[in-house]
Amino acid sequence: MDQAEIKLDYIVSRIEKFKNIQILELGVQKGISTKKFIEICEKNDGFLTSIDIDDCSNVAKSDRWNFIHSSDDNFNYIDKVIKKNFNFIFIDSLHEPKHIKKVFYHYYKYLTIGGICIIDDISWIPYSKNEYRDNEFAEIINRSSFQIILEIYNQNKDNLMLEFYFKDSGYAIITKKNHNSLKESQPIANRQFSLKNLIRKFYRRTPKK
Ligand SMILES: C[S@@+](CC[C@H](N)C(=O)[O-])C[C@H]1O[C@@H](n2cnc3c(N)ncnc32)[C@H](O)[C@@H]1O
Repeated sequence: MDQAEIKLDYIVSRIEKFKNIQILELGVQKGISTKKFIEICEKNDGFLTSIDIDDCSNVAKSDRWNFIHSSDDNFNYIDKVIKKNFNFIFIDSLHEPKHIKKVFYHYYKYLTIGGICIIDDISWIPYSKNEYRDNEFAEIINRSSFQIILEIYNQNKDNLMLEFYFKDSGYAIITKKNHNSLKESQPIANRQFSLKNLIRKFYRRTPKK
């Protein structure tokens, strides 16, 4: 089983409990996740809505699937054509922190209480120096996405639950606790670069031989 399949199986284990599951998927490409979600919808009497900026309408065929050819932040259009009661939202379109935050805040309103939103590609570990996917751009982008998710959580600890899955490029798993409007994310006040911490690090450095 390859890494992508192992990751998708993890999603299945988190969402297969939902009867009549309603899924919103952002990002289709070749339809690997789409086909997996259609399978779940066929089993659980559910329905999948997928959105991609490219025409991916041919990747699958099912009466439990609707494909919307659009950018996922074209909210004026998309809001008119989707139902607004999703048990599961999968964010895997443009992997750019500001975009992830924008679509998350928008579609989160349409998640049911107890519903799950999974954001793909939040771990920078496989992309760091000398790792198996060594890639500076992806390392930096994924680290920023991870940070933004922490900042959203920090302002909304009473409204949502946050977990991480670190296999491969990872997932953030967010469970909705209530219908409160989410508060805007804020940078987390932290002491990583405080003078005290820098001095502490300086004096604890290992002496060169
Ligand atoms: C990583 S791929 C999706 C992979 C798919 N979820 C899977 O697991 O098989 C990302 C997809 O997002 C699409 N995409 C990029 N920017 C987008 C946007 N603004 N709105 C919708 N789709 C977008 C790309 O066209 C691409 O097909």
